[in-house]
Amino acid sequence: MTLTTTQKQRIMVTGGAGFLGSHLIDYLLGEGHSVVAVDNLITGRLANIEHLANEPRFEFMELDICDAFDPGPVQYVFNLASPASPVDYHAHGVETLKVGSYGIFNSLDVAKKYGAGFLQASTSECYGDPEVHPQVETYWGNVNPIGPRSVYDESKRFAEAATVSYRRYHQLDTKLVRIFNTYGPRMQLNDGRVIPNFMKQAIRNQDITVYGDGSQTRSFCYCTDEVDGIVRLSRSAEELPVNIGNPGEFTILEAAQKIIEVTGSTSRIIYEALPQDDPKQRRPDITKARTRLGWEPKIDLETGLKLSLEYFKMAVAKEAVAS
Ligand SMILES: NC(=O)c1ccc[n+]([C@@H]2O[C@H](COP(=O)([O-])OP(=O)(O)OC[C@H]3O[C@@H](n4cnc5c(N)ncnc54)[C@H](O)[C@@H]3O)[C@@H](O)[C@H]2O)c1
Repeated sequence: MTLTTTQKQRIMVTGGAGFLGSHLIDYLLGEGHSVVAVDNLITGRLANIEHLANEPRFEFMELDICDAFDPGPVQYVFNLASPASPVDYHAHGVETLKVGSYGIFNSLDVAKKYGAGFLQASTSECYGDPEVHPQVETYWGNVNPIGPRSVYDESKRFAEAATVSYRRYHQLDTKLVRIFNTYGPRMQLNDGRVIPNFMKQAIRNQDITVYGDGSQTRSFCYCTDEVDGIVRLSRSAEELPVNIGNPGEFTILEAAQKIIEVTGSTSRIIYEALPQDDPKQRRPDITKARTRLGWEPKIDLETGLKLSLEYFKMAVAKEAVAS
């Protein structure tokens, strides 16, 4: 079963109280579908879905997908549940490995039981510290299986293997999206990812901490572009992984400078030691998404930062009140 545009479906989104999951839910509800969000709130927040409290086409089930569960009949499953930021997966290493192993099987079994389509949220971390640049989907990656990031990288690589196995052995209609750094409103302020970190420091006019000399590169995709790519993939005939990310490549130093500009901050940039296994370069090759899905990111970094600014200002203000 694929995600339709004409017929209204009941769709499950695991990780629905998370940053990306909640944006995906808004999009699906906007198309007229019904959505059941499943989340154990390990890193997600009810605040991300509280605007849906009176939406009759929305349900929330608080549960851990590592335990077998049954949300009732669904026609499509988006499996986004997983700690995603370095701070979160370091704090919850074992849970991260479990959600990519026990959890993925339980989600795949829901799709199998109801004959639903299935999309797994994978990651650019599957490429590890890449020797191929930009990263193309056929590259198998350079991952340290026992390093500090392995709880996340290997969990996601295993989840990819599980997903393609259900296609091979159970004829499930599966998709794999390799998401590259995505940002926007509803991100946690303290999740250690580049944009919230720099935004928080800049809004407070505090020193901006750049790791290493700041020459390592990243690409940043705005959340609505990412959701558009994910939905297009779910509607496509594409069986193999597809990169969805913004190919605009910035050094970490450039990103810090852009954030200082957008926030009008007086922050200075300071340098700290580079964490172990920190990837030196990250940029998606999006030829496949362009040609097979007709997808292209529309929002450049500066625009996306401006669109996110109000949210981050509010989050910083809330934190100040709470402390
Ligand atoms: N945001 C990015 O830049 C990015 C990049 C690559 C991949 N991804 C993937 O996209 C997905 C969403 O990421 P995000 O940025 O929204 O992170 P997030 O932490 O905001 O959302 C993940 C959600 O999954 C939930 N969750 C985790 N383990 C669970 C479990 N066992 N049972 C039920 N719910 C569980 C969390 O509570 C949270 O709400 C993740 O799978 C992540 O790996 C995100």
